[in-house]
Amino acid sequence: MTVDLKSGVAVYVRKIDQRLADLIPRALPGQTQLDAAIAASVLAPGKRLRPLMTAIAAEDLGGNLGPAIDAGCAVEMVHAASLILDDLPSMDDATMRRGQPAVHITYGEDVAVLASIGVLAGAFEMLTTIETLPPAARTECIRLLTRAVGVGGLVGGQFEDLRGGRAARPVADIAVANGLKTGSLFSAAVEIGAVVAGADAMTRTRLREFAAELGHAFQLLDDLLDGGSSAITIGKDIGKDVGKSTIVSMLGRPSVVHRIDRHVETAHARLNDVFGPAGRMHILVGAIFDTTLRARMAEAAGSEAGLREQEAGAR
Ligand code: IPE
Ligand code: IPE
Ligand code: MG
Ligand code: MG
Ligand code: MG
Repeated sequence: MTVDLKSGVAVYVRKIDQRLADLIPRALPGQTQLDAAIAASVLAPGKRLRPLMTAIAAEDLGGNLGPAIDAGCAVEMVHAASLILDDLPSMDDATMRRGQPAVHITYGEDVAVLASIGVLAGAFEMLTTIETLPPAARTECIRLLTRAVGVGGLVGGQFEDLRGGRAARPVADIAVANGLKTGSLFSAAVEIGAVVAGADAMTRTRLREFAAELGHAFQLLDDLLDGGSSAITIGKDIGKDVGKSTIVSMLGRPSVVHRIDRHVETAHARLNDVFGPAGRMHILVGAIFDTTLRARMAEAAGSEAGLREQEAGAR
């Protein structure tokens, strides 16, 4: 089953990459720096988790793959746009992303900001043009993605992360910020998949709950990696959370590993409600988090080896 999903996922990732190359916004003739910055941001080798979730949710709910891939590409473009801004000197001040120099390092901050806005706008424009989706479904996808970007989503979460993170704060507040900055886009990814499939309201609610749990687990894993990896293995700067109040800094790494496991368990339970125990989304979640268990065991044994494996596996 795992082998099937792995080869299946590779096929999906290829389709996603091909569609992204077709669908990214093009700058005006002669604006080669802007064009190159957009391509560098979106087409760099990310894991494509969000569009994968859209595609798998849609197909496993009986929807068509074509519009699901395109809608998932819009989610991925929003994600890429958010990463350009996140890396800016005024935000996380990172220099490397997806194994390459961050967009502002190569093209300058001015072009990076414009590329981010261009990609964001391109994502929404592209959603309006998915002709195999009924107009009402397109509008609903746009609504879901807009909500995930706005003050009740990425923008609000990033603000809280940057400003609230400067001082110690309650763990519950950090969890809320993580839900906004990371969970909201995961939720949009799966719910858009459900919209493509014409799923009912209860299914959409359960999938949102699943994605929220996954978002918490994912950000906690990302925060663990920030403190315990090398930049080469994860393809981006490490130590960017030093001095910031994260759940890792407040509770310590072993406690965070337990929290990840609890979120992943609940995520699987919500998936069970929708797909039963055998759905492909279970396997995708397993592929993201199966290394966590080994890392926890290694930590208990006082070994760093498992963490190194976790870093390699999480790429
Ligand atoms: C990075 O997301 C930002 C977080 C939400 C932690 P990913 O780990 O999915 O990044 P890519 O898309 O694979 O580069
Ligand atoms: C997630 O947080 C960033 C966004 C949602 C844009 P991080 O700042 O931890 O993500 P990385 O570690 O830079 O990928
Ligand atoms: Mg950040
Ligand atoms: Mg960052
Ligand atoms: Mg991080």
